[in-house]
Amino acid sequence: MTDILDRPAASAAQALLPALQLGPITVDTPVVLAPMAGITNTAFRRLCREYGGGLYVNEMVTARALVERRPESLRIIKHEPDEVPRSVQLYSVDPVTTGHAVRMLVEEDRCDHIDLNFGCPVPKVTRKGGGAALPWKIRLFESIVATTVREASKANIPVTVKMRRGVDEDHLTYVEAGRVARDAGVAAVALHGRTARQHYSGTADWDSIKRLRDSLPDIPVLGNGDIWSAEDALDMVERTGVDGVVVGRGCQGRPWLFGDLQAAFEGRDERYRPDLPMVISTLLRHAEMLIPYFDGDERKAMQDIRKHVAWYFKGYPIGGSLRSQLVTVETMAQLQDLLGELDQSIGYPGEPAEGPRGRAGSAKKVHLPQDWLASQELNAQQREMIQAAEVDTSGG
Ligand SMILES: Cc1cc2nc3c(=O)[nH]c(=O)nc-3n(C[C@H](O)[C@H](O)[C@H](O)COP(=O)(O)O)c2cc1C
Repeated sequence: MTDILDRPAASAAQALLPALQLGPITVDTPVVLAPMAGITNTAFRRLCREYGGGLYVNEMVTARALVERRPESLRIIKHEPDEVPRSVQLYSVDPVTTGHAVRMLVEEDRCDHIDLNFGCPVPKVTRKGGGAALPWKIRLFESIVATTVREASKANIPVTVKMRRGVDEDHLTYVEAGRVARDAGVAAVALHGRTARQHYSGTADWDSIKRLRDSLPDIPVLGNGDIWSAEDALDMVERTGVDGVVVGRGCQGRPWLFGDLQAAFEGRDERYRPDLPMVISTLLRHAEMLIPYFDGDERKAMQDIRKHVAWYFKGYPIGGSLRSQLVTVETMAQLQDLLGELDQSIGYPGEPAEGPRGRAGSAKKVHLPQDWLASQELNAQQREMIQAAEVDTSGG
């Protein structure tokens, strides 16, 4: 792309952190694109990785759906031929299904890295004991992680774990879960500094990230939560001592953040200050790339791009009426026409284009299986529920 800034070769710059080593994988820029359902598909990942180095994780796929080879799951784990390493995030509540899914990924050579999702706070997931609810059942957590590591190690595929601080302030799990994951042989642990109850509210607690970093001196620890700029990333590294950062919402509508992050970690202060034409061309390219991702279904691609519009144009004076037309766009031609109406002389608006974006809101009740928090061991009923998940063919 022409609008990528010239960068000196990495070797010429003073790296602020060493490369991130995940088993056999060396990630030169210690930055991870956080898995985001409905966002981090091949199209968005390509845009991001064109700007900078890092590890680009796909959207989470459920082990059950993968084993059943549901078309949407196979789409989610697709990688482009030049995407190396191929990173897949798995979600599961059950060690047996996890084992089948990992074996499938390994035997069919479908990925180079596996991340396990223990951070999802949405009711649909925590109600089944999954995501951020799961590490509370520490032996179940151990079993899922150990099974994944055992199966993945057959192809020397590194496994990482991504988690939250816990269910709520009274049920924090991250330190114990981090130790258990390390002992099970994971290559790194990533912590989002919120509990499930916090959802996306308030600010991420970076002190917890530091505490985890200090508790696990022998494996890389990655910090996640509220990195909105390259400066935030450097700040997190300085305050917590993490080995790398995981960036989610901060790159929504601004894939060039990965260029800023690479520059920052190489000790350079160049940053993207995109004018409106750069934003428009990136949005158009994103939309175009979504069409092959959805197997040529332009309508689906346009439905998908609509959710990105507000993020791309955050802070740019483009007018309410055009914004509302953009979020109902049906065809690529319509999108091009609408964007063609914009004043191409609009420059970078500064502060209004920066800062928080995407999900926020307030703390939420965490929906859990019955008696989930009564003990860290599964009771008979909960064990049955987990096993039923193994034979459930209608799950998400
Ligand atoms: C739209 C959206 C979808 C997400 N999907 C996933 C997911 O599939 N797997 C996961 O582990 N986390 C998921 N997350 C959480 C992010 O990976 C990340 O942990 C969280 O947004 C905090 O990081 P941030 O402050 O940089 O956004 C999602 C977050 C958002 C906003």
